[in-house]
Amino acid sequence: MNRRDFAALLAGGLASAPAFAESLGSIARASVRMAPRVDGARLNRHLTELSRFGANPQGGVTRLAYSDADRQAREYVMGLMRDAALTPEIDAAGNIFAARPGRDRSRKPILFGSHIDSVPEGGNYDGNVGSMAAIEVAQSLGEQGIVTRHPLQVVIWQNEEGGLYGSRAVSGQLTAEELQNVSRSGKTIADGIAFLGGDPQRLASARRAKGDIAGYLELHIEQGGTLDRDHVDIGIVEGIVGIKQWEVTVTGFANHAGTTPMDERHDALLAAARFVDAVNKTVTSIPGRQVGTVGRMQAFPGAPNVIPGEVVCTLELRDLDAAKIDSLYASIAAKATRIGGDTGTTFSFRPLHENVPAPSDPRVRSLIADAARELGLSTRVMPSGAGHDAQAMAMIGPMGMIFVPSVGGISHAPKELSRPADITNGANVLMGALLRLDEVGWA
Ligand code: GLV
Ligand code: MN
Ligand code: MN
Repeated sequence: MNRRDFAALLAGGLASAPAFAESLGSIARASVRMAPRVDGARLNRHLTELSRFGANPQGGVTRLAYSDADRQAREYVMGLMRDAALTPEIDAAGNIFAARPGRDRSRKPILFGSHIDSVPEGGNYDGNVGSMAAIEVAQSLGEQGIVTRHPLQVVIWQNEEGGLYGSRAVSGQLTAEELQNVSRSGKTIADGIAFLGGDPQRLASARRAKGDIAGYLELHIEQGGTLDRDHVDIGIVEGIVGIKQWEVTVTGFANHAGTTPMDERHDALLAAARFVDAVNKTVTSIPGRQVGTVGRMQAFPGAPNVIPGEVVCTLELRDLDAAKIDSLYASIAAKATRIGGDTGTTFSFRPLHENVPAPSDPRVRSLIADAARELGLSTRVMPSGAGHDAQAMAMIGPMGMIFVPSVGGISHAPKELSRPADITNGANVLMGALLRLDEVGWA
């Protein structure tokens, strides 16, 4: 009997006393079986406290990976972990892991968590919601005396925004060359890892092989507007897009902007402008949800009276299907060659970084759906257009992701917002899915 039936019974004037007694019995049984819940007020308070680190005057945070704000926020997070009776440790890749023992020592750990680094002028929810919720779930389990069969590990990944560096180190996808990439804080990845307390020389010790984990769960904000618009409580992620990024260099010839006739120029910025348009036209020329972006561009030498001799820009392509990304890239590169021929310039592409597309595990999806159903929450199965550490974890074990609505679909911006009640719902679904995964346990 649910609450509505009970109300109907009361409204019906308690016509039958035995039926009423039976109803009370079933309510009592139902409350005994009631799903464990997190402390939503505490969770949302922790989120507010976390938003102090790297706070911007106009709202939101700039908490770039390897910045002072990042390191201070991680100290705060490790304090919360200790309050939750967890023991945080930093692995060689700079990720924070906090373990909670399980009953069965032969079981592989279930990992759950997210990231707390941000983009420049980012919001207070991207990554932070899943990170605070993971700690809250562990704390609530402890307070409610629940000991799982599997050992649990709450994880806070380092440098998600720069390209899943912490999680890709664990999945073994991070290459030695990438350690020399310069992060947005100005430090190389290797220096950044050391700055956070990791050891880039011992990166291999952070690696985990396929089958080393019983599963990975991550709660995150949707970052798009569909759940909010359609009043759906919970998104169940079916897969996470693959992302490929390149640095594109257009080489022309710098010359005097007053004396060089228009038909004698090798204008790298003119070629780059046509390139931006070609990217947009190529990506929109076929049906599907693929996206392509030129997100950064710099012209050299960069003076009003000099024809640009060189442009350095980026190209990013995303789709759930890696083959589609590759074929879009091939046609964009062919168009770039033609633009080069027309403008007297040349294009070169240097791969920057890749996140492989990752489907979530259908079994984990159905555990998330069951957890949401038990809580009376509506759900929708949906793809993720944003990258997540979960896609690296999908390489080594069954992965599932839970989305909560982003108000107005705004993300990577100070106005990013998820409502406290939605965040609490998401954390309760995370807890329910975790306990179900623990019960069925495939490793
Ligand atoms: C990560 O937030 C990304 O999708 O770029
Ligand atoms: Mn994120
Ligand atoms: Mn992000």
